[in-house]
Amino acid sequence: MKSKQRFFKETIKDVPLRGETVLVRVDYNIPLNQKGEISDDLRIRGSLPTIKYLLERGCKVVLISHLGRPDGKEAKYSLEQVGVRLSELLHQSVTFIGDTIGDEVYQTVRKAPKKSVLLLENLRFYSEEEADSAAFAKAIIRSTRATYFVQDGFGVVHRAHASTHAIAMEIPSVAGLLLEREYQTITAAMKAPTRPLVAVMGGAKVSDKIGVIEHFVSVADTILIGGAMANTFLAYKGYGVGMSKIESDQTEVLDRLYAAAAKKVGQENVDSFIVLPTDVAVANEINAQAKRVVRSVADIKFDDIALDVGDESIERYTAIVANAKTVIWNGTLGYAELPEFAHGSARLALTLATTQPKITSIIGGGDTADFALKWDGSDGKSFSHVSTGGGASLDLMAGKKLPGIESLLDARP
Ligand code: ADP
Ligand code: 3PG
Ligand code: MG
Repeated sequence: MKSKQRFFKETIKDVPLRGETVLVRVDYNIPLNQKGEISDDLRIRGSLPTIKYLLERGCKVVLISHLGRPDGKEAKYSLEQVGVRLSELLHQSVTFIGDTIGDEVYQTVRKAPKKSVLLLENLRFYSEEEADSAAFAKAIIRSTRATYFVQDGFGVVHRAHASTHAIAMEIPSVAGLLLEREYQTITAAMKAPTRPLVAVMGGAKVSDKIGVIEHFVSVADTILIGGAMANTFLAYKGYGVGMSKIESDQTEVLDRLYAAAAKKVGQENVDSFIVLPTDVAVANEINAQAKRVVRSVADIKFDDIALDVGDESIERYTAIVANAKTVIWNGTLGYAELPEFAHGSARLALTLATTQPKITSIIGGGDTADFALKWDGSDGKSFSHVSTGGGASLDLMAGKKLPGIESLLDARP
């Protein structure tokens, strides 16, 4: 990427910090497995630089987050076990407080020594959080007596909630280091990428990602389409897609997209600009016994379910990716929960891993990040940047303004 623009908001590095009580919004909405245990701690690890920075300056760090979408106070959504994992990663004790506001919070924070880390209970146990309630935001500040607010929950800044919006109206509010890194990395890749810029788009639905794909039509050099999204494109082009997952109401959207693409690269180049699979891997059922059968897209049978890009398409896609300088990947190329249909995603991950650092790779999207982390053994080092944001990274890539960032103090000139 070319010379980085300065971040447009104040960060923790721009304010004088010496022993204050600092309230930090993190996004510890982490994936839990069926037993309710933490299945991936990328978001917890991502929060460490900011916490350490504040501790080094003698601050008392009070963390707030949501977890899941609880209906009132549901024990399974408590942040207590997250506090335990944080303490292991930080090599320091973390005091978990079983409420988010009130006297217990006030007394515990008040008595805690400087350089301590405290974690409050799930913000969404209070409906006021999602209602962006100013009274709730004020209650959090009153209970903690925090003098600064730090937004470091990149994954949640696309929401206008009490802890991402209302709270920033109350006390000086600045960005944390994760938020700054996410914003700067993603926007630099979108606005001033080292070219060629290849966008790899897959996953479940066109409608989830249309804003991002439209943006890529204007900024990317090539767009590769995979996943169930490719089925919708193929059906639009008139191919029979059997029993595959598609969205049938996207005709207008795709008309618009192809018109914009033709305007940019010329009608004759559209299909090498928005690249679709020429073959797909199909099965007749979706389960662990399903065998991968590869067919040309012209030969998909009425009872076939297309679950991955085919082998010829994998070669074509990886060759295009290998010639890129920047790759942004969002959405798995197939039904990657089943190894038989993870070939496309795994080969793409391998291509990105082996071309680093020649290729800057940015991975966004909850399922895609999850796949990429599991593929490389969980630390994400095979890629330049694995985003901690799902919806937030999509909105940022689509060029939308994010309320949780907009509400922070502007950087001084
Ligand atoms: P992300 O969370 O990274 O933005 P999505 O949620 O859009 O990605 O897409 C991931 C989901 O898409 C996965 O659950 C995956 O199984 C599903 N998927 C990908 N390809 C197919 C396909 N061909 N048929 C059905 N589901 C698919
Ligand atoms: C996410 O995981 O995308 C964020 O933590 C936001 O969670 P939400 O979609 O429940 O608002
Ligand atoms: Mg998803």
